[in-house]
Amino acid sequence: MIVINFIYNQAIVSLHITLRQMAAFQSLARHRNFTRAAGEMGLTQPAVSMQIKQLESQLGVALIEQRGKRIDLTEEGEEVLAGARAILQRLDDLESSLNERKGVKSGRLRISVVTTVNTFAPDLLLIFQQRYPGVGIVLDVANHKELLEQLSDNDVDLVIMGRPPASLNLKAGTFLENPLVIVAHPDHPLAARKRLSPSLLSNETFIMREPGSGTRRAMERFFSEKDLSFIAGMEVSGAEALKQSVQAGLGLGLMSRDAVRMELDAGLVVELDVRGLPIPRHWYLVHHQSKRLSPPARAFKDFVLTEAADLLRDKRRQG
Ligand code: PGA
Repeated sequence: MIVINFIYNQAIVSLHITLRQMAAFQSLARHRNFTRAAGEMGLTQPAVSMQIKQLESQLGVALIEQRGKRIDLTEEGEEVLAGARAILQRLDDLESSLNERKGVKSGRLRISVVTTVNTFAPDLLLIFQQRYPGVGIVLDVANHKELLEQLSDNDVDLVIMGRPPASLNLKAGTFLENPLVIVAHPDHPLAARKRLSPSLLSNETFIMREPGSGTRRAMERFFSEKDLSFIAGMEVSGAEALKQSVQAGLGLGLMSRDAVRMELDAGLVVELDVRGLPIPRHWYLVHHQSKRLSPPARAFKDFVLTEAADLLRDKRRQG
């Protein structure tokens, strides 16, 4: 429990606000959904609701407005959110600087990756963990947009994702190529054709990733740059679901080759030979520009930027 004393109109007001209440509010503000905030916090939904109510009662203002399922922040809520972020960031910095004294031997690494990266992140984490067995690792998997939110909320030390927008205050270093390809069921009529013209894709049904996915954005850009349309089929969340849907024959999928490597090798899906493909992209290791990286986070960053590409290419060669 922290007690904040401040002078307001000559009166001393005491606020009994807990860090947990602030963290619950920050999580709710990000997800705009009690169930998802509860999941993130490892609490029940009523417990999150209670934390928010207690915070509102301590501050004497309403922080959220609920209309049906929609949750909006009040003006006061926005202000409190900014304050909560600053306090939690300050505490995080404090933890980092204390860890700095202890070195890389201990501490925590919070890393988030997009779903495709989850196919190779464990290989990297295994080597890192063997090198630094005292470091606790927390790995989260989400999509591109959600990772950007985690970075801006300081919920994570480092993320691995497709290219982040230049407009945000982020530091991003590329370490591995990430070609995007179109995959199909092996019986698909286009599967055996060579040097396909992209215009042929206009009559094809594509399984779509969810809004917020970087892969979905890259796909939309690919078609709009070529002034082509496509038939949007089923919408799925995550690279795994997209891959399974293509494998089941529900439509074509544009996705990272990294996500379907095993299925391509096993002949469960095939890569279409389309002119202008693969879309050349890269994987990036990203953190907030103002983030004070803890020793474990700095060690992981160095490891990924200098060694990960060779390790992963070797592994791919070995199959
Ligand atoms: P996503 O990842 O499609 O899972 O969001 C790709 C990216 O970060 O661009």
